[in-house]
Amino acid sequence: MAANVPFLDLPQQHRPLLNELNQVIGSLIADAKFIGGAPVAEFEKAFAQYLGAKHCVGVANGTDALYLALRVLGIGRGDVVIVPAHTFIATAEAVTMAGATPRFVEIDPVTYTLDPKALETVDTKNVKAVMPVHLYGQPADMDPILAIAKQHHWHVVEDCAQSHGAQYKGKTTGTFGTLAGFSFYPGKNLGAFGDGGAVVGNDDELIDRTRRVADHGRQTKQLHGEPGVNSRLDSIQAAALGIKLKHLNAWNQKRAQAAAWYDIRLKELKGVVAPAKAADRTHIYHLYVVQVPNRDKCLEFMAQNQVGVGVHYAVPLHVQPAYKDLGYKHGQFPVAEKVTGSCVSLPMFPDITEAQVDRVCQVLSDYMKAGG
Ligand SMILES: Cc1ncc(COP(=O)(O)O)c(C=O)c1O
Repeated sequence: MAANVPFLDLPQQHRPLLNELNQVIGSLIADAKFIGGAPVAEFEKAFAQYLGAKHCVGVANGTDALYLALRVLGIGRGDVVIVPAHTFIATAEAVTMAGATPRFVEIDPVTYTLDPKALETVDTKNVKAVMPVHLYGQPADMDPILAIAKQHHWHVVEDCAQSHGAQYKGKTTGTFGTLAGFSFYPGKNLGAFGDGGAVVGNDDELIDRTRRVADHGRQTKQLHGEPGVNSRLDSIQAAALGIKLKHLNAWNQKRAQAAAWYDIRLKELKGVVAPAKAADRTHIYHLYVVQVPNRDKCLEFMAQNQVGVGVHYAVPLHVQPAYKDLGYKHGQFPVAEKVTGSCVSLPMFPDITEAQVDRVCQVLSDYMKAGG
């Protein structure tokens, strides 16, 4: 029986760092330093520097990061925010949390990110912002998105939950919009040991306000300028992220190498659509997503053959029950519907070996030979 291939292997990724992690986290526990302090400040500084941004505020998770970004931009009830129809639901939830309404648009059939052409025909009534999502680790087409947003005076809030370090025309995602939100969910390219997130931006006032709103609206220890929320990045998470950040570029390169192994093998495999990378961007392959015929049958076949796969995501947002009140219909965004109906995420992690990629592609080839 051939060895199984996991979808993700975090224990293997962390193994070489365990001594350093145990020592740093152990000393925080020994000193009972859990909220704020040097580890958070140091990580915020290092992450902002890594991205080429002026500021970073650590928060509790990526959903909160996006919500806080919208809130400090003054987006709320009566406002509309444009969101791609194909993304994790958190992008739209952040809009709902802010009291505003998401307006969904179509995605590009090649990169699966927000289609800038959709912004030319979308209803612009009450729109205050657009949220490009750098989905799967590939940047959205930022130049036309920024140009249209500028024309309409919309804010751009980037969803960078899947794009830590990915670049568009030589500039890192998270530095294009007015603000950006990152997630450090454990499985992300830069993941914490629990939930974590960050708001990133260059505007001093917006960032100051984000920091205050995320800490109960505090002006001082006892004075609260506005009702805020509790959304802080834990010191232990910040310390772990600081250690892992030093390896992010190497890990992203290893993922790109694995993607190249997949690309070569899948080129030969008719009927399977491999991901396309636009020439003006880097792709950090948070996920390596293919399109296959009869997706559910394929999932079953992969599972039977011990290959770990996932689906990101099976139902586009415009037809999610959560947003049924918005009145969207099946058939409205055919590209998003096609991709969500046929996508399979293959095993992808920095330490995946060429032999493991071989095995995944062999099983996928067997599936196609058996009729797809
Ligand atoms: C595209 C996208 N946006 C937002 C989020 C929300 O991040 P979190 O899970 O940290 O709240 C995620 C991750 O789960 C995501 O993949």
